[in-house]
Amino acid sequence: MTEPAHEEHPPVEEGMVIRRTPEEQRLIEDAERIFPTGTRCLTFDGDLNFCAGRAKGSHIWDASGNEYIDYMLGSGPHILGHAHPAVLHALETIPKNGTSFLVINENAVALGKKIIEHVPCAEMVSLHNSGSEATFFALRLARIYRKRDKILKFEGAYHGMHDYALMSNQWTMGMPPFPKAIPNSYGIPSVLNDQVLIAPFNDLQATAEIIAKHHDEIGGVIIEPVQRTFPPKPGFLEGVREITANYDIPLIFDEVVTGFRMGLGGAQEVYGVTPDLCALGKAISGGMPLGVLCGREDIMAIANPRRRLQMLPYSMQTGTFSSNPVSAGVACAVISELEKPGVYERIEEVGARLMAGLRDAIATSSIEATVTGIPSVFEIWFTEGEPFDHRSAKLSDFYKNIRLSDLLLRQGVLKAAEKFFISAAHTDADIEKSIAAFHFALAQLAKEIS
Ligand SMILES: Cc1ncc(COP(=O)(O)O)c(C=O)c1O
Repeated sequence: MTEPAHEEHPPVEEGMVIRRTPEEQRLIEDAERIFPTGTRCLTFDGDLNFCAGRAKGSHIWDASGNEYIDYMLGSGPHILGHAHPAVLHALETIPKNGTSFLVINENAVALGKKIIEHVPCAEMVSLHNSGSEATFFALRLARIYRKRDKILKFEGAYHGMHDYALMSNQWTMGMPPFPKAIPNSYGIPSVLNDQVLIAPFNDLQATAEIIAKHHDEIGGVIIEPVQRTFPPKPGFLEGVREITANYDIPLIFDEVVTGFRMGLGGAQEVYGVTPDLCALGKAISGGMPLGVLCGREDIMAIANPRRRLQMLPYSMQTGTFSSNPVSAGVACAVISELEKPGVYERIEEVGARLMAGLRDAIATSSIEATVTGIPSVFEIWFTEGEPFDHRSAKLSDFYKNIRLSDLLLRQGVLKAAEKFFISAAHTDADIEKSIAAFHFALAQLAKEIS
């Protein structure tokens, strides 16, 4: 018996018909069997599970050829859009001269210089393979500098997958009183629970009290300057900067999302607050594995291996693929594009129009929801008031959020869990179609919950 070319799923009113080819169906089944994380699609509707086929500009196609406007953008890296010519050119030329050397190379040096040129806190730089690695090494440097083991982080902030970082960032695991931490994964050694202190984002007084009480144990404070999609309240970052400086506690900005997304100098430039260390990644990566750590020379220099021979405290901070020439060269190409006039203005314009369109769609539906964030990265929350931290956002109905993502996907609009990422490649037609999809999906959701 011959298989049908496409397996049809019932169309949703005004939504697109999602067809899965038998080949993609098989890929999905294989993925579910091979990878514990499966397809990595967080969806209620099984037929929406997909396997990526290709992507170009602001659009992505699944392996069956269904097309979506992409606001997931690989979780943020594709600020120029997918398969940008500058990125492709770098990938066509650089690997011809080798793909990894361990020792430093021309592209890595060029990237280091660019980071120092643009990022206010960057006096020295080290290049790694992911945002997680960058925050991991930042915390280690801070602990060595301060000769203290504890880290203070903010509830709900995400800094990657390592043990110190994966604390108190998911409401499903519970929210003990501050500053007690709760691990977000099983398998994190329980001794670490006491090594991490948790403060509420955007609450300067509570944060100041925790730091004042524990300053003699704290090695470093790590913060997302825009936590998830919650901008800092006026004075909050400045206050945290002042308190940490008073105690000489290194302040680490995790700018893996905001770095080169809010502008060439990231959030630290926009808000005028300079940290001691900073982690970067996504936006400059062009989709290649990359994490960048930069910061104050006296702290960064702790990773100089010559210190080992001098019997000085030293951070072991290397890896087979660190300072990778291809990732570094692609990042240089991305930064050159971002330096061109009008790129950030376009991202801001697109984001502002989409945020306004989403707010308008909320207002015309009977749904209680709000939008937080900055134009280049924002989110809808199903809360009455506007959330400003983890606990206020926790009141949001997460299930409505997943359902909305499903309804949007059926309209040909793909968003990340808890974020819309904007690129310079999104077109006016994308904006119009997306806003129409927001209206339809929210009206549909309103019908379903009434
Ligand atoms: C703020 C922040 N820090 C760190 C990370 C970890 O980066 P990576 O996924 O490259 O390890 C992420 C990833 O989403 C992030 O959003």
